[in-house]
Amino acid sequence: MPTVLVLGGTGEARALAAALAEIPGTRVISTLAGRIARPRLPVGEVRVGGFGGPAGLGEYIAEQRVDAVVDATHPFAERMSWSASKACAATNTKLLRLERPPFPRDPAIDWREVESLAQAAQSLPAAGRRVFLTTGRQGLAAFAATSDAFFLIRCVDAPDPEALPPDRAVLLDRGPFTLEGELDLVDRHALDVLITKDSGGEMTQAKLAAARERGLPVIVVARPPRPAAQTVQTVSEALAWLGEHAHDG
Ligand SMILES: NC(=O)c1ccc[n+]([C@@H]2O[C@H](COP(=O)([O-])OP(=O)(O)OC[C@H]3O[C@@H](n4cnc5c(N)ncnc54)[C@H](OP(=O)(O)O)[C@@H]3O)[C@@H](O)[C@H]2O)c1
Repeated sequence: MPTVLVLGGTGEARALAAALAEIPGTRVISTLAGRIARPRLPVGEVRVGGFGGPAGLGEYIAEQRVDAVVDATHPFAERMSWSASKACAATNTKLLRLERPPFPRDPAIDWREVESLAQAAQSLPAAGRRVFLTTGRQGLAAFAATSDAFFLIRCVDAPDPEALPPDRAVLLDRGPFTLEGELDLVDRHALDVLITKDSGGEMTQAKLAAARERGLPVIVVARPPRPAAQTVQTVSEALAWLGEHAHDG
């Protein structure tokens, strides 16, 4: 039976694993980095923890006799995608990238595109002094030296307190979020700018709707470059591709 390895950590990866588990005669293994204390687990077999780079991933692919790899990691999980690309090339394994589209650019929002978290930090305090910072726990050190703005930092797990800006509040929460809840945060903390990665996906779009309603500019960090790979945007497209390409042996 074909074995599909789903590199996960996203809602799309979980949905794909659930759909594959329904197909008789298919073995699906999902993998997670193991960074989050209480991750939402996919159905079926799950492997938690890194592989030790492309060589380790290649060994795992060979050991488990993987027929196809779906890189369904988050659009900002750059290292894992490069690792998958190298490991699949070295083991001659088929690779598909499942990557949700970026956030749709609502013309009613003042979008300000930046290349990095450091550039986002440089845009302050000109862009705003009361910041809704939703870029996740990693990389917050880019804002540590920004002392002339207040930050409402929202992430899933607690960030390292050493790497945070001095004037801040930390909110531990994870999506999906509602427009009502986002507006409440914006109003309660008098937030005047939103900083987000261009992650895309519906779970977190309410913050953009809230920014539009309150007229907040949105500083959006562009996605990092990815290795060239066959790419689809939806779980059903991934299933169709696997139907054609994931055959035993
Ligand atoms: N970056 C984000 O904004 C973000 C947001 C939401 C969810 N996530 C999810 O969180 C995880 C970690 O993200 P990251 O930005 O730290 O990734 P990363 O920088 O690309 O990965 C760092 C290392 O973590 C291990 N790793 C990452 N994803 C893995 C997976 N799915 N299965 C097994 N090992 C994995 C790999 O270790 P080895 O080299 O040792 O194999 C990789 O080199 C990813 O699974 C991603 O889908 C990330």
